[in-house]
Amino acid sequence: MRPKVIAGNWKMHHGPSATRRFFSRFFSEFSPRFEGAEPTILIFPPAISLPAAAESRGGRPEIGLGIQNIHWESKGALTGEHSASMALAAGARFALVGHSERRHVFGETDAQVELKVAAAIRESLTPVVCVGETLDERRGGQVEEVIVRQLDAALLGVPEGAKKPILVAYEPVWAIGTGETATTDDVAEAHGILRRRLTEVRSDGFAQGVAILYGGSVKPGNAADLLAVADVDGVLVGAASLDPESFARIAESG
Ligand code: 13P
Repeated sequence: MRPKVIAGNWKMHHGPSATRRFFSRFFSEFSPRFEGAEPTILIFPPAISLPAAAESRGGRPEIGLGIQNIHWESKGALTGEHSASMALAAGARFALVGHSERRHVFGETDAQVELKVAAAIRESLTPVVCVGETLDERRGGQVEEVIVRQLDAALLGVPEGAKKPILVAYEPVWAIGTGETATTDDVAEAHGILRRRLTEVRSDGFAQGVAILYGGSVKPGNAADLLAVADVDGVLVGAASLDPESFARIAESG
């Protein structure tokens, strides 16, 4: 059994002070249990808020922190970027890679996703690879083609024998920030495709070690149903992760 992972992607919300307030209210709402070797509650604040998040989290191993984006170079003349090693030094252990906003707003390509996955693993960050189709691609019957292509590109960046596996997040673009949630059948189908592909490209053992999260308009009212779907190992929550009470309710569903 893979433990359920409840992840919050704060996107461009919550500076350092709001981050401290979030944690103090979150901890008064919810006491995460810690049973495994890996954190099961992940928070991805803006990079500038990572030190505040690390300080507020204290010594609680059940909460993992991540950065929302990294550059694949370790340093250089790259104004505005952050390297994986800097994220690690600021308290991150995870990195979102290929989020749909990075792909569609900032033009991130599959080739860059591969480089970022490789850079994250090289620096001991666990990549959380985001994949998902647009509405046009879904209407065109291309769901499998798109998410398999995105997954394959990311897997090129994972060295054979990598100790800690990646996480994958299926986030249909049309369900992000729209209030539209994929049906549980859509989610089961996409997660099944991803699990089978992980097995085909690597091995059954590798595939079984990869948590596949669903993201797209997850909220307290639908989290339990989504988490009950076959092959759904967790959720990646945007808007509803900004409020400590609503994130705590979602975390209790896991
Ligand atoms: P929403 O939960 O706001 O739809 O965002 C999902 C998402 O993009 C998480 O990474």
